[in-house]
Amino acid sequence: MISPETHIPSVTLNDSSHLPAIGFGAMIYDAQTARTAVADAIDTGYRLIDTAEAYHNEEAVGRAIADSRVPRGQITLTTKVWPSPAMGYDEARAHVLASLGRLGVERIDLVLLHEPYGDTAAQWRALEDLRDEGKIRSIGVSNYDASQLHQLLQTARVRPVVDQIESHPWFNQNALVDECLRLGIVPQAWSALAEGRNGIFTNPVLAHIAAAHTKSVAQVVLRWDVQRGLVPLAKSTHAARMRENADIFDFTLSNEEIDRIDGLDMGRSLYPGY
Ligand SMILES: NC(=O)c1ccc[n+]([C@@H]2O[C@H](COP(=O)([O-])OP(=O)(O)OC[C@H]3O[C@@H](n4cnc5c(N)ncnc54)[C@H](OP(=O)(O)O)[C@@H]3O)[C@@H](O)[C@H]2O)c1
Repeated sequence: MISPETHIPSVTLNDSSHLPAIGFGAMIYDAQTARTAVADAIDTGYRLIDTAEAYHNEEAVGRAIADSRVPRGQITLTTKVWPSPAMGYDEARAHVLASLGRLGVERIDLVLLHEPYGDTAAQWRALEDLRDEGKIRSIGVSNYDASQLHQLLQTARVRPVVDQIESHPWFNQNALVDECLRLGIVPQAWSALAEGRNGIFTNPVLAHIAAAHTKSVAQVVLRWDVQRGLVPLAKSTHAARMRENADIFDFTLSNEEIDRIDGLDMGRSLYPGY
């Protein structure tokens, strides 16, 4: 029996809307796999679905949401505009309108500028105007560092609600996380499980903490995000792991455990180019 209910709490954004405290990452390039995974994620209780025009799966993601038994208003759908170095106002606007069509929705809940490239001030104005027109509920950015956030805020009429950044035990970006929180911008963690890289699921420090809480390493890492003030995005193509990853709201890591996980930081991105 599939339940349309969820146990996932939410956080409040600076525009007063609510965002589920963990999201399902839909960076899955095969459309049929994406559609099945998003359907499973919603059945499992996820109410935040994160896609992007660059994932080339917006139609499949939109179809999975439309077919679900959960009312559209209970699902926060995120997509992202992929900017070119030449992208300004008109192109950013056209990209969002195209995403609306592919997703098959009247309004996108959260649209992010995927990367800080091109005329970001003009791209941001396009998102602000689309928000005014009711085509987007909330607007944010991704992969902006602190100086890029400050630069955007100099011309922004609307403050970004989130900055979606790489954050996992090997590259926690705690300074940027703290700056986001200071600015009232919710940091979201992408590749929260580091895509399984560097042996994350068998790391002895993480495994020791996991055993102490009778939880898995994935749950410890995602809980660490929540306690640092991030909204993690995790992906799996297996329903049991989706359920496991969302089951992180019934235990608390100690400050000492958080410090030990912070201590795994290697100070550089796992993804050259970011
Ligand atoms: N804004 C950006 O620039 C940006 C960049 C990258 C990613 N993102 C977003 O962040 C999301 C998450 O990042 P990601 O997709 O790179 O990967 P991820 O969530 O860090 O890791 C996914 C990998 O971990 C495995 N996994 C998941 N849960 C597991 C568990 N409980 N136990 C063992 N293995 C587990 C999955 O395998 P199985 O499928 O086999 O379970 C998959 O191989 C993306 O989907 C996307 O929405 C955004």
